[in-house]
Amino acid sequence: MTEDDMDKVEVLCFNKILSKWYIQNARDLLWRSTRDPYKIWLSEVILQQTRVVQGTPYYVKFTSNYPTVYDLAAAPLQEVLRLWQGLGYYSRARNLHASARMVVEEYGGEFPRTARELVKLKGLGAYTAAAIASFAFDEPVPAIDGNVYRVMARIFGIETDILSPAAKKEFFSLGQTLISQDDPATYNQAMIEFGALQCVPVAPNCEVCVFKARCFAYAHQAQDRLPVKAKKIKARSRYLNYFILYNGQRIALKERVGKGIWNGLYDFYEIETQEPHGQLEDFAESYGLNHLLRGGVVEPVDKAFVHLLTHQKLHVRFWKVDFGQQALPALPEAYGVFDLDRVGSLPKPILIDQVLRQEGFLEQDEE
Ligand code: ADE
Repeated sequence: MTEDDMDKVEVLCFNKILSKWYIQNARDLLWRSTRDPYKIWLSEVILQQTRVVQGTPYYVKFTSNYPTVYDLAAAPLQEVLRLWQGLGYYSRARNLHASARMVVEEYGGEFPRTARELVKLKGLGAYTAAAIASFAFDEPVPAIDGNVYRVMARIFGIETDILSPAAKKEFFSLGQTLISQDDPATYNQAMIEFGALQCVPVAPNCEVCVFKARCFAYAHQAQDRLPVKAKKIKARSRYLNYFILYNGQRIALKERVGKGIWNGLYDFYEIETQEPHGQLEDFAESYGLNHLLRGGVVEPVDKAFVHLLTHQKLHVRFWKVDFGQQALPALPEAYGVFDLDRVGSLPKPILIDQVLRQEGFLEQDEE
């Protein structure tokens, strides 16, 4: 749909209804009371990872530890990863850090003012660029996230698969038509908020909706069918077995290197098996573990974990191996042996951190 299909009056009317709804219903969220592009950027990156309620404490933590882009750029990456801990998808935190440095080094500490320029920063996609450009600088460019795709697809009856490249163009073009030229920031916030509060994914309460009279999905009872999303690829199951090798107050850990999502984070000695195994004895020998465990007292951690990633389902189990007064076994070079004090401050996948606390290696209530 373009401007040809929708006349100006219709667009004005749409905006009037939307902004009135927003004034009456918008939540008072911390990042909505700032025009600082740095803080807006932080909030958007966090909110890509989690919901508002869970994301707010992270926003507070980041803005108080790093009040300006200079502070974030000057921080060690490990500290940033540690503050990010619990949000998952650590490449976002790495990109955040890299982009802060870029803003400081290449842009003199000033964020670019247009979506076109902003999108050049590392890890910053079209949505986030548009959000920053509109919220901080009033650029009339539509910010289209999952919420907004849903609102548009339903109201205007767009059946294009929202994960297809064609959808990007189509929804963006409609967004350009709809966006208020006078107040693009409010338009974008309102569309996001409308998707989050009223036009929710499951069982929206359409009877009280301000767009009821003009909504395609309501008229055709197509709320469940829209937006159209191609079927997800089934997540591949992987079986990870971790060995917590320790003696007294010291644990063996390694920093993960490479391209994975846990790159830069520390974890235990790990063996991946091709299939699930109930007992350690079933796979210890075939995976060459006996020499590693010799001399240690092995105790399985009762709870198994399932960790869902975008395309993977990780089945994770842990074994504690206590070497008492003895030295830990010889380990490949990548491993280090760390005192528990230090372990607490290293960045770790949340799962590793949880187990360390649950098994009493780290304090339960430490931040
Ligand atoms: N989700 C993504 N961006 C948001 C914002 N600015 N306000 C509320 N929820 C959001």
